Amino acid sequence: MSHPLRLGIAGLGTVGAGVVQILRKQSELLSARTGRAIEISAVSARDRSKDRGVNLSSYAWEDDAVALAKRDDVDVFVELMGGEDGPAKDATEAALALGKDVVTANKAMLAMHGQALAEAAENASAVIKYEAAVAGGIPVIKSLGEGLAGNEITRVMGVMNGSCNYILTRMQDAGLPYADVFAEADGLGYLEADPALDVGGIDAAHKLAILSSLAFGTRVDFAGIELEGIERVSIEDINAAADMGYKIKLLGVAQMTGRGLEQRMQPCLVPETSPLGQLQGGTNMIVLEGDAVGQIVLRGPGAGAGPTASAVLSDICDIARGYRGAVFGQPAAGLVAATPALSQRPAAYYLRLALHDKPGALAKVATVLGEAGVSIDRMRQYGHDENAAPVLIVTHKTTRADIDHALAAMGKTAVVDGDPVALRIEEV
Ligand code: NAP
Ligand code: HSE
Repeated sequence: MSHPLRLGIAGLGTVGAGVVQILRKQSELLSARTGRAIEISAVSARDRSKDRGVNLSSYAWEDDAVALAKRDDVDVFVELMGGEDGPAKDATEAALALGKDVVTANKAMLAMHGQALAEAAENASAVIKYEAAVAGGIPVIKSLGEGLAGNEITRVMGVMNGSCNYILTRMQDAGLPYADVFAEADGLGYLEADPALDVGGIDAAHKLAILSSLAFGTRVDFAGIELEGIERVSIEDINAAADMGYKIKLLGVAQMTGRGLEQRMQPCLVPETSPLGQLQGGTNMIVLEGDAVGQIVLRGPGAGAGPTASAVLSDICDIARGYRGAVFGQPAAGLVAATPALSQRPAAYYLRLALHDKPGALAKVATVLGEAGVSIDRMRQYGHDENAAPVLIVTHKTTRADIDHALAAMGKTAVVDGDPVALRIEEV
């Protein structure tokens, strides 16, 4: 058997403690599978005195993650602290500079500094592995980078933030408004320390940026993502969408088009009978489409100690087995700068508006849509509430620009009350 693989683990929170637990419990299984022992040499976190529910007494302690990364008895630096900059990035760079391999779950760091880190890794003949950074326990990085390596990837999409999917499905199931369910999720500890990372779509967009790079051979381009969170999704829209046969999801979509790379993370409607429409609670789902394979749907836990540590262990096992490979699926120098598509592919749209109870009001709205080049597929009007009636419209495929044009014109008709809502309906 080869010499042991020696780990330095920085970050002993939910994921880090989970990784230590698996390494302790499954050491025989892991060494049988990889052909070598996998050992922890040293660990690091902020507070040495904290009880983490795992026995750390046999490992050296470092207060400083950079010092941990540089230790002579550390072959692989395992970064589980988080944060796009700061000690996570400093220690990752320190490890790479010494030619050490890195395993990380840090999507924020990779989304913001992926290209530079990939170049640093390749210059040092080291690897960075990050299965846990996207969709927790779902092996999507290996599926895309290895399993589908023979395909031209045509589209990547999915629900990549469990907290948002929990909030949206709980709103529907309990008939509760966003603010109530947000408070409930926060109380249950489901949200990041900065909840804007979840509900603002940022965490999910970090993940999408990484998947886009792997799928399309482009440099990670977080700034190129059209981003909208779930804060403005109302219970009225969730109920109305359900009435028309749809569910609302925070959906990430990446697709290479003739107009450039389209990357979107936004609330969308999907058919309620589709796999994405059926996705409940905090579960994640990633849909991968390739020219040879067709469509693959991956579903599973996107967060939590066990699932995320499971993904970290798969990377550690890869390194122990000698499986290497380029960080984003091809040599970093060959990754091209993405040209962001300036407009979205045409799609059907869901519109919800409140119409004043006046003769000809509905006709005016139809005229405005027609004049903007937007064709109506289905329409439903509900009973008048005092002096306004909710109207739902599903359009035929159209552009966002035409929808925006129509909405602006509607505001001038004096028959529409308040701001209409427009949400894209994604073909899934
Ligand atoms: P966490 O529970 O907050 O743990 C973070 C750990 O890092 C703690 O042990 C903390 O030390 C340590 N740490 C934080 N800042 C530090 C600093 N400046 N110097 C030294 N140590 C520091 O976070 P987590 O949920 O385990 O997440 C870790 C990483 O995994 C993040 O990149 C996250 O995005 C990613 N991830 C998490 C999940 C999940 O389900 N939680 C899923 C996928 C990916 P103390 O304990 O002493 O405070
Ligand atoms: N806050 C994230 C989520 C954790 O809810 O999916 C995993 O990245």
